[in-house]
Amino acid sequence: MTPEEYYGDTFSLLKQGEEYLKTLMETYANDWAEDDLQPILYIKTRIKTPESMMEKLRKRGFAEDSHTALENMHDAIGIRVICSFVEDVYRIARRLQQRDDIQILEKKDYIAYPKPNGYRSLHLIIQFTKNNLKGMTAEIQIRTIAIDFWATLEHQIKYKRNVHHEETIRNELKRCADEIASVDLSMQTIRDILRSDTWEQL
Ligand code: GTP
Ligand code: MG
Repeated sequence: MTPEEYYGDTFSLLKQGEEYLKTLMETYANDWAEDDLQPILYIKTRIKTPESMMEKLRKRGFAEDSHTALENMHDAIGIRVICSFVEDVYRIARRLQQRDDIQILEKKDYIAYPKPNGYRSLHLIIQFTKNNLKGMTAEIQIRTIAIDFWATLEHQIKYKRNVHHEETIRNELKRCADEIASVDLSMQTIRDILRSDTWEQL
């Protein structure tokens, strides 16, 4: 089934919401001080596929139609923002919090509180508050590029069937996630030192 067939008339509105958030994030990506390091490396967006939406609805005991989906699921529109540093993740979240064209319905801070498997990201469920997008929701995931590498790999492994050594892989992934978190901290320290150097030169 195509997304147009599944989401019907709402599909163009979903695309519009996706574009809106993408453009917004692109302005943030281009808006950084010359003497600083690039905060946003790239942005990915997607409309959830009918298959994946229906599977999620089924798992949660809902009917599988798109009306039920848009009423009960908040991630038909998804945007992922990949940052250089942990500090940038929170900075972007703060900027989003200050806007009046979106409202933050829910915040999950898996960086401060990682999942047991080691997953770290900041998730925001937002709702548009203006014009024809009003009421529509979206999920924004913000994470560092190091964590993004891990999460992409972990996601692929999770859906592999008949994996031998499952426990070993799980333990190794957890160890890698923790090491990545430690590297992210070190990278942040490098940035802080660079910044204080810049100040000393003034
Ligand atoms: P769903 O996971 O979408 O059913 O919703 P939820 O209520 O569990 O929300 P949560 O914020 O935990 O997850 C939302 C999305 O974040 C997921 O659809 C994934 O894209 C991503 N995510 C969450 N946990 C993990 C994880 O352990 N590994 C990876 N790779 N991605 C994750
Ligand atoms: Mg989940």
